[in-house]
Amino acid sequence: MIVLRLLLVIALLALPASVLAADKAKTIEELVKMYDSSSCKACHAEIYAQWEKSHHARSLMGVQGGLMMTPLAMRGATVFSPDTPEKATMKNFPCFKCHLPQALTSAENSVAVEFAQALLAGNKDKVGQLRITCLVCHNEKAIIHRIQEGKPEKGVLYSTKALASHPDKGYKTVKKSSVMDHSIFCGQCHGLGPNFDAENPYQCATLYGNYIHAYIPRGGTKSCQDCHSDHRYAPDFDDHELTGKLLKDSIYLDVQTLGYEWLRKSKDLRPMLVVNTKIWQKAGHEIPDG
Ligand code: HEC
Ligand code: HEC
Ligand code: HEC
Ligand code: HEC
Ligand code: HEC
Repeated sequence: MIVLRLLLVIALLALPASVLAADKAKTIEELVKMYDSSSCKACHAEIYAQWEKSHHARSLMGVQGGLMMTPLAMRGATVFSPDTPEKATMKNFPCFKCHLPQALTSAENSVAVEFAQALLAGNKDKVGQLRITCLVCHNEKAIIHRIQEGKPEKGVLYSTKALASHPDKGYKTVKKSSVMDHSIFCGQCHGLGPNFDAENPYQCATLYGNYIHAYIPRGGTKSCQDCHSDHRYAPDFDDHELTGKLLKDSIYLDVQTLGYEWLRKSKDLRPMLVVNTKIWQKAGHEIPDG
């Protein structure tokens, strides 16, 4: 047994490091290529166009292209920031867990260095290529219970049903994901509360926590996919007009007033006003989030 282990160690040492890490991207360009979904456009044009306009397609850009992750690359600006961009590793960007999950499974620390440099240079063209692509949802995040179901397979797409064949050149089969039509699928990234798994816990999205602890216990029956039923995943905060319209449709304001005079004592009439206001909304969670 010891001999066998020793042989295994020697065999591993004999392999060049590049082979061991062969499936991890060293540059942003390599990572972008690995999850590139531009081939999907030819046949799924409508879905592609919806996705392209969604926040998922610009998950590191920030509202109005504000490059919201920049403080994480600036020395001393956050607890996570590296001393210099050249020293950056994945640990400096815990946000990748939800904003770019493929970086954690498929990229070397050199990608964190390049990302930090791009943020400091305000290089929107480069940062904008890092997105939650079709393959992130239809492969990377499509299996949650990995002890039972295994990791997502290379070259396979996952959806709400299986298809025996699929005409894409690289992705020839579609398997059934057991979670894609359930809210828990979105819950992987839409937040339960503080991220206690981080060395320094912090909080970003909490909307999934609100959904399971407030909406469902109040008798809510709909899933995320029931209400957010196309790949635009509105609201789009870069589109003020559309967001205003959507919120107007989903937030209600009821105001009732009662004016009267209070006869305090004889001939002493005091005008009084009662205003009752009720604000409520029909989303499956708090709005806005956080
Ligand atoms: C050459 C055309 C073509 C290309 C390219 C293509 N698809 Fe498809 N795709 C189809 C067709 C046709 C179906 C089957 C539609 C059906 O029967 O519902 C399908 C089905 C699917 C389904 C399953 C839909 C369901 O009903 O559950 C998913 C998910 C999917 N494609 C995603 C992708 C992604 C992601 C890409 C890019 C990596 C891609 N497709 C590229 C043609 C294509
Ligand atoms: C648990 C998953 C998760 C983690 C971890 C996470 N985020 Fe987020 N973040 C989201 C989601 C989902 C949204 C959008 C939806 C919402 O806010 O409800 C969002 C929205 C944002 C927004 C507002 C929208 C925008 O684009 O400007 C900022 C800023 C942001 N995140 C920054 C960060 C930073 C910085 C980190 C790391 C320190 C981080 N997030 C970590 C899930 C996460
Ligand atoms: C944020 C995650 C996410 C992204 C990104 C995403 N999808 Fe989907 N997609 C889903 C989910 C979830 C469903 C199942 C929806 C349901 O059950 O109603 C789905 C369903 C589908 C379907 C089958 C149902 C339909 O509407 O025809 C196709 C085809 C599809 N996606 C293709 C794509 C393509 C192509 C892209 C990239 C342009 C893409 N998806 C990006 C999550 C995603
Ligand atoms: C891989 C992680 C991930 C998954 C899975 C995911 N999202 Fe998101 N989603 C995000 C992030 C990150 C943002 C914010 C991007 C940004 O900074 O603008 C976002 C943005 C959104 C937005 C736009 C509003 C906003 O606050 O930015 C909606 C709506 C949304 N997601 C709904 C869904 C639904 C519904 C599902 C499940 C079908 C889902 N998402 C699955 C990570 C994810
Ligand atoms: C009962 C319907 C319903 C359900 C269920 C639902 N949503 Fe929403 N969601 C809405 C409405 C309505 C809005 C307000 C904007 C709009 O109309 O698009 C909204 C807004 C959002 C936003 C933007 C939040 C903000 O800060 O303004 C995100 C992100 C989001 N939903 C994600 C999700 C996710 C993830 C789930 C499942 C855990 C979910 N939604 C379940 C109806 C729903």
